[in-house]
Amino acid sequence: MAERAAIVTGGSSGIGLAIARMLVEEGHAITLAARRPEKLESAAAELSSEGAEVQHVAGNMADEETVRRVVQAHQERFKRLDVLVNNAGVGIGAPVGEIQTKHLDLQLDVNLRSIILFYRECADLLRAAGAEHRNALVINMSSISGKRGEAWLSVYSASKHGVVGFTEAMNKELGGEGIKSCALCPAFVDTPMTEFAKENVPGEEMIRPQDIAEAARALLRVSPACVIPEIMFQRPGAAL
Ligand SMILES: NC(=O)c1ccc[n+]([C@@H]2O[C@H](COP(=O)([O-])OP(=O)(O)OC[C@H]3O[C@@H](n4cnc5c(N)ncnc54)[C@H](OP(=O)(O)O)[C@@H]3O)[C@@H](O)[C@H]2O)c1
Repeated sequence: MAERAAIVTGGSSGIGLAIARMLVEEGHAITLAARRPEKLESAAAELSSEGAEVQHVAGNMADEETVRRVVQAHQERFKRLDVLVNNAGVGIGAPVGEIQTKHLDLQLDVNLRSIILFYRECADLLRAAGAEHRNALVINMSSISGKRGEAWLSVYSASKHGVVGFTEAMNKELGGEGIKSCALCPAFVDTPMTEFAKENVPGEEMIRPQDIAEAARALLRVSPACVIPEIMFQRPGAAL
């Protein structure tokens, strides 16, 4: 049995892959989950070649059955869960009068509902880790848009505000059992998700995925006496 184990959703690219790599460096076996199987397989192969014990489960996190499948596969293979990284997310911009219902549902389901389902399905595993070392950790990917609403990204902003609120509630509900939760709230990070913005903000002026991973590393290292409920990441002198 691995000494430490983690689930990372949206782990096939960008911030999720950077956090997964950090968790491997910190001795975690990993279940990597994302939607597109080829991209996921190649990310898992990359981590394996760096010495990781890693399995991957492909599927849409908006789907309750997929969430169950990911957690079940993780439990069967690794038997324990020390870190859950709820990172899968999607942003679809539109003016409020033109929001399409399917885009509304997708953003709420992937960005917020799936996080709630993952907590539910992982509760027993997290409680076991919390009882063992008082440092079970759930990292929830919010956004700077989860701290202040953005025009045109209203649904995304609402879903990410929900993530901050749910994280706060989980700290109150589960903190006493050694389960800590942290909402990460970054401005623009240089990943495929921000391709749309790179005409105006070059990638090299954006936050690096590794910056987020380093902050996540610090979350692993604080003592059981300390919880960090939220981290904001800003670009010097910029709003987004
Ligand atoms: N980049 C930024 O500026 C920024 C800023 C603040 C917050 N965030 C948040 O950070 C998280 C990661 O984004 P990123 O920037 O690293 O983007 P990314 O490189 O595009 O990664 C997104 C990851 O999520 C997966 N994913 C997307 N929809 C999914 C679904 N329905 N089911 C399962 N997996 C899904 C993607 O895999 P597939 O493509 O195969 O589905 C991919 O692995 C998101 O929650 C995003 O909202 C990003």
